[in-house]
Amino acid sequence: MTSARRLRKHWWGVLFSGVFPDRRSVPDENPWIGPAWADLSQRKLRAIPPAAVPVDGVPAAPTLGYPAVTSLVINLMSQDRPCRVVDFGGGTGYECFRLLPSLSRPENVSFHVFDSNRALFDLGQAFGKTVPHGDRVFFHPDSFDGWEGPIDILHINTALQYLPDPIADLAGLLRRGPQCVVLTRLLAGEIPTFTTCQNVLGVRTPCTFLNVRDLVAGCAAAGYRVAFQAPCLEEDLTGDFAPDIPASHRIPHSLTLVLHPMAAAQACASATASDQGL
Ligand SMILES: C[S@@+](CC[C@H](N)C(=O)[O-])C[C@H]1O[C@@H](n2cnc3c(N)ncnc32)[C@H](O)[C@@H]1O
Repeated sequence: MTSARRLRKHWWGVLFSGVFPDRRSVPDENPWIGPAWADLSQRKLRAIPPAAVPVDGVPAAPTLGYPAVTSLVINLMSQDRPCRVVDFGGGTGYECFRLLPSLSRPENVSFHVFDSNRALFDLGQAFGKTVPHGDRVFFHPDSFDGWEGPIDILHINTALQYLPDPIADLAGLLRRGPQCVVLTRLLAGEIPTFTTCQNVLGVRTPCTFLNVRDLVAGCAAAGYRVAFQAPCLEEDLTGDFAPDIPASHRIPHSLTLVLHPMAAAQACASATASDQGL
């Protein structure tokens, strides 16, 4: 466990507790609009390092961990054409601002942040005015349903677990046809899908851990297959479960998944198989 995680556990208690039949059984106190989350978000934004010296025009990725995967995908897709990244559940746009200094063609990239807690946008918008290419991050106060136009990359970092029905909601986003999907810090693994209570800086919210096979089947039914998967080793969850969560429900790390569209015929076959429970 990192020292930051140890300190948080000491201060606020364990992160995940209980196994609940559904999300309605867990109190939702909306941690994302409280002062503690705003304070942490601001400290994280201010700690983003500036661009490092580029190698052959390519600056360094923020770390070798999960953001490096997103950085690679964006750089590959933005060399000679515009690349629209939708950051769903993006909050203050922290991940977008963290990725910006690693982009070789930032002028080709636009980040579009959607989030149900629009109060977070004020922090991101103010921060965007202070950093190079900060104007490439756009915050959308309207619902994502009204978004028109192509999505080159759908990016979700540690937000899927808070959506009302994560697999169905992701499938809905996939039906908008992104060229590539980058899901980082996913709470998914070889565990049963279950709802728990997450303690975010002392504030409770329902959180869904996913069975990774069900998640992949849901994506296949929407026409997407896995191109890459890796554990997020920098997110060590081993100390984060209360004793009332059985070992069979625990994962040691979160997960990064990159998905891409499969051929139409294959998508059809997968959807049929999934409808038949195969
Ligand atoms: C742990 S934060 C992650 C924020 C951001 N992705 C990041 O990496 O900094 C989870 C985010 O999910 C957002 N969220 C929760 N429920 C949501 C929903 N139904 N639709 C969109 N965003 C949601 C929260 O407002 C919050 O900003």
